[in-house]
Amino acid sequence: MGRISRASGVSGHASPSDRLRRSGPELYSPGHSIFGTEDAQIEGGIADRFSHPRHLLRAFRVWVPESSVRPPKVRYALISSSSKTISPRPVKMMIKVKRFNRRVITVVVACGLLATFALPVQGTQENLLPHLRRQGNATQLVVDGKPFLILGGELGNSTSSSLEYMRPVWPKVVSLNLNTLLVPVYWELIEPAEGKFDFSLVDGLIQEARRHQQRLLPLWFASWKNSMSCYAPAWVKTDQRRFPRAQDAAGRGMEILSAFSKENVDADAHAFAAFMRHLREVDGNDHTVIMVQVENEIGMIPDSRERSAVAEKLFKQPVPTELMSYLVERKETLIPEFRAAWAAAGFKTRGTWEEVFGVGPKTDEIFMAWYFARFTNRVAQLGAAEYKLPMFVNAALIRPGYQPGQYPSAGPLPHLMDVWRAGAPQIDFLSPDIYFPNFAEWCRKYQQSGNPLFIPEAAPNPSSAVNAFYAVGQHDAIGFSPFAIESVEEPVSKLLAASYDVLKQLAPLILEHQGKSSMVGLLPEGAEQRVPQKVRLGSYTLNVTYERPTSSTAQSAQTPDAISGGLVISVGPDEFIFAGTGLVITFETETPSDVTVGILSAQEGKYVNGQWVSGRWLNGDQTHQGRHLRLVPGKFDIQRVKLYHYR
Ligand code: DGJ
Repeated sequence: MGRISRASGVSGHASPSDRLRRSGPELYSPGHSIFGTEDAQIEGGIADRFSHPRHLLRAFRVWVPESSVRPPKVRYALISSSSKTISPRPVKMMIKVKRFNRRVITVVVACGLLATFALPVQGTQENLLPHLRRQGNATQLVVDGKPFLILGGELGNSTSSSLEYMRPVWPKVVSLNLNTLLVPVYWELIEPAEGKFDFSLVDGLIQEARRHQQRLLPLWFASWKNSMSCYAPAWVKTDQRRFPRAQDAAGRGMEILSAFSKENVDADAHAFAAFMRHLREVDGNDHTVIMVQVENEIGMIPDSRERSAVAEKLFKQPVPTELMSYLVERKETLIPEFRAAWAAAGFKTRGTWEEVFGVGPKTDEIFMAWYFARFTNRVAQLGAAEYKLPMFVNAALIRPGYQPGQYPSAGPLPHLMDVWRAGAPQIDFLSPDIYFPNFAEWCRKYQQSGNPLFIPEAAPNPSSAVNAFYAVGQHDAIGFSPFAIESVEEPVSKLLAASYDVLKQLAPLILEHQGKSSMVGLLPEGAEQRVPQKVRLGSYTLNVTYERPTSSTAQSAQTPDAISGGLVISVGPDEFIFAGTGLVITFETETPSDVTVGILSAQEGKYVNGQWVSGRWLNGDQTHQGRHLRLVPGKFDIQRVKLYHYR
C-alpha cells in the first residue's frame, strides 16, 4: 500500500488539509473550514476519499504498470522463500511470478470494475455532486462542475403537498425566470407510519422540476417549522411519552418537540437519512436537487428556554467542553455581540451556563441554541452519511427591541453564529429569512466571519427585485429566493421576472467575479438618500444616486418606480458593467486629483450565452450629454461603460 499512497501524491508529513489541496481543488471542500473544524472534517474526508473507487482506480493505474514491469519485491520474496531453493529453478519461478501477476491484475481489474459499477451512486459521483467551494473570499455552490447562482423562489408552506395543486405552478415559475424552486418536504407525509416511507410526492416534484428545467432545494419540514412541531407525523405527535415535548414553567407540554430527547432526534434523523438515501438513489446522477435546508426557522417561543426536568438539569450543569473550547480558541474572532456578552460575564472558561454567560434570558437563549444545534447536527449527520449535499439552516429574524422568548429565540441568528457553528459543524452555513426593510443590514450580519450568504426567504415585494442584485453584487450571495413565489402577482411578478432575466444573463460574469473585490451591489439604505453614496471600485469612485420618488409615502408604496438598485462589475481598468434600475452615477478618480473622469462610451445591451451583444449607443440625453450614467426606473437594464480622463 505504501507504493499506492506515494503514487497518489500523499506524503505522511503534510497536514490533512494540505494533502487534500494538493490532490486537486475539486477535493477540497472549504464549506467546512468556515466552522473552524477544517482538519477534523477533512480527515474524515480523506478516509472517505481513499476508500473511493476513483482512488482505487487511480491507484490501480499506477500500480499495474509497475507490477507488470517489475514484480513487487515483497511478493517475489514470498514465492522465493516458499520455493526453498532459489537459483536452481529460475525459469519455473519466473512462470510462477508471471502467473501470480496475471492473477493479481485480474483481481485488481475485477475489484476496480466492481467498485465502479456496483457501488451506490454517491460512491462513484462524489466529486460531481453539488458542493461548496471557495473562490477568493466567496463561497460558491458548484453544480455539475460549474459555479451556480440560485435565482430562486420558495413555495408557500402547503403548495408542494399536492402534485395536482402544483400543476399550474411550474409554468409560472418558468415565466418568472427562476432556475431553482425551494420546496417544503414534509416528514408527516414521507413517513406516515414509523419506518414506512412514501416518496411519491418527492419523486413527482423531481420529475416535474426536470421537465421545467428547474433545480430543487428541499426544505426539511420535520421536528421544527417556525419553532413548532406541526409537521411531525401523527405517530410522533400522539406518543408524548416516547416523544416528549418542550414544557413551560407550569409543566404543560407545548406544540414543540423537546430538543433534549434522544428518541426525538433519532426519529427525525432516521427519517431524514431515508429521505437523503432516496435522493441519492433517484437523483444521484442528475443533481436536480442541489442543496437541502434542515428544519425550518428553529426557535423557542414564547419562553426563552425549555423548562422540563431534563432541560432544567442540563441548565444547571457546566457548559459542555466542546462549546467552551471552541469559544476559547476563537476568543478574538467571535461575533462581537456574543463576545461582549461573554466578556460582561467575565470571560469565564468553565462553570454553569449562568456562571459563564450571566443570569437572564440571553443565557437561556445560548443554552437552547447549543441544544438545538446539537440536535440539528445529528439530523444532518445521518442525512449526509447517505447523500452528501450542502446543507444549511434558516432563521426568523428579530424584531427591534424584542427579548429572547418574545421572538423565536436560539435559532441560527447572527449573535448566536458561534454557538451554532460549534454545535452543528455538519451544517455548511446559516441563512436569514429577510422580511424586514433593512435588507442590507441583515445581509451584512449574515456574512460575518466567513458565513456564506444565501437568502432562502425574502418578502415577495417589488424591493425583492433589487434586493437580489444587492445580495449577489455586494455579498457574493449563493442565491436569493422570495417567499410564496407561486402567489406573486403584478407588479412583483413582472419586476422579479425582469430582474432574474438580467441576473441570468449576467450569471457567468457574476460568478467569475465573486470573491475578487471587483463587484459591488447598490441599494439605497434608509428612506431618503440625498447625498450620493460613494462607492469605490477599481481606480474610481462612483457617486451613486438612487432615483426614486422623493416622498416617503410614495417610496413605501413599493411601486415599480419606487425601487432602485443594482450591481456593477469592474471588467477592465476603465470599463464597467452596470445592471439594475433607477440609478444615476457620476465618476471620479479614486483619490482626489486634477483630472476629470468622462464617459467615453455607454452601450445598452444583453448577454447571450455569456457574450455581450450591444444594443443602443447611449449618449445625448441618455448620459446627460456625457456627464452621468443612468439606468431608468421601472425596468431593468444592462449597460457597458468605458471611462476616460481629461484635464
Ligand atoms: C417564515 C417561514 O419560514 C415560512 O415557512 C412561512 O411561514 C413564512 N414565514 C410566512 O411569512
